[in-house]
Amino acid sequence: MQSTIAVSQLLRTDEVHQSIYTDPAIFDREMDMIFGKAWIYVGHDSQIPRAGDYITARIGKQSVIMVRDKSGAIHVLYNRCPHKAAKLVPEGSCGHVRKLFRCPYHAWTFQHDGTLCAVPFSKRYEGTGFDSADPRFSMPHVARVASYRGFVFASLSPDGPDLATFLGGVISSLENFCDRAPEGKVAVAGGVFRVLQRSNWKIFLENLNDTAHAQATHESSFVAARHTAQARGAEKLPFELHIIEGNGEPNSFWEQIEWSGFDYGHSYMTSIFNAPQDELSMAYRASLEKAYGAERAVSILATSRHNTTIYPSCSPHTSFQQLRVIRPLAVDRTLVEIFTFRLLGAPEGLFQRTLTYSNVVNSPSSVVMVDDVDLYNRVHEGMANETGQWVSQHRRAGFEETVGGEIKADGVSEMPIRNQFTAWKRYMSGEV
Ligand code: FES
Ligand SMILES: [Fe+2]
Repeated sequence: MQSTIAVSQLLRTDEVHQSIYTDPAIFDREMDMIFGKAWIYVGHDSQIPRAGDYITARIGKQSVIMVRDKSGAIHVLYNRCPHKAAKLVPEGSCGHVRKLFRCPYHAWTFQHDGTLCAVPFSKRYEGTGFDSADPRFSMPHVARVASYRGFVFASLSPDGPDLATFLGGVISSLENFCDRAPEGKVAVAGGVFRVLQRSNWKIFLENLNDTAHAQATHESSFVAARHTAQARGAEKLPFELHIIEGNGEPNSFWEQIEWSGFDYGHSYMTSIFNAPQDELSMAYRASLEKAYGAERAVSILATSRHNTTIYPSCSPHTSFQQLRVIRPLAVDRTLVEIFTFRLLGAPEGLFQRTLTYSNVVNSPSSVVMVDDVDLYNRVHEGMANETGQWVSQHRRAGFEETVGGEIKADGVSEMPIRNQFTAWKRYMSGEV
């Protein structure tokens, strides 16, 4: 049935058919053709520091385990026992297995790299077609695994570009994410927020790139932040109010932002927060200067970005050290996981600022996040209406400029969304 979807009929110049967001057959095809082909973010190597540490993740519809073995190598294995298919560990779990994975059903055991170790009643398999050396009785590996400075990605497809080629221009965002640490390394810390959205995964991904929504969508939260600040008589807004009220900036502010778009649907935008000059920020700057020298420290901090989108699976925020990960569950259900990172070698207060940012903007109880999630749901429900049928992406269409493979556009352009659909079309039609 999937091959009968005529992808080109769902796309017009600067608009897309709403069934792209609501048709379960299209969702299934996306899981095969996009999430089954692209490099998908799995996890960060700091989450599994010791041999036997593991986390679970989803790649499209596949449940996988990322585990470190005793040589230090990282493996990404399908979370499926080769006996009768039981999941070896519960989805969403993380933990430690000292030497072996042991299936909870009939106790087959597997080494950290997935190799079958032992099966109970082994003598009773003699003279049958079972062969413990046959790889099909071990935990299968996903086709490809690669990492960039600790960020581990996997692809279910044996073919395709290598990770660096796939990341292209947005590799600089991951680079800056790590360079901002005086030790050049980051580590996941502080747990994870999980937000289940009743809307299609693309709606979330598009909103990361939609600067024109902030003033309307977040009016309730930024007005409340301004009233609170006034009531307190504060001359300078505290950090948490500052980041909430920033959504109320006027049109001219959003228009001066710059977008960069890249192959495979990736993009990033320039920062919407100025380099702070408070005591903590200055101490952090000093730690960077000590590690890298003054000139390099200035250049690292000058690479200041708000959202980066690594299509289709994650979005690092380099200035506030957080990573949002998109796990589509169904055509109308999307799990978004939000991780916070510590910059190794930076003052501890900086990590507290990261947590504050994540709490204020991304936690399930955030006054900002609920605005967005409500709108994602309204968009998804609105698509059930049979009028209209087409979803507009016209804003600043035709005004982008391509320079050396990078598409440049101004702040309220929907270029990044159109760029995502350029990639979507290529994946869905089998070109990638
Ligand atoms: S299903 Fe895993 S040992 Fe039987
Ligand atoms: Fe928003």
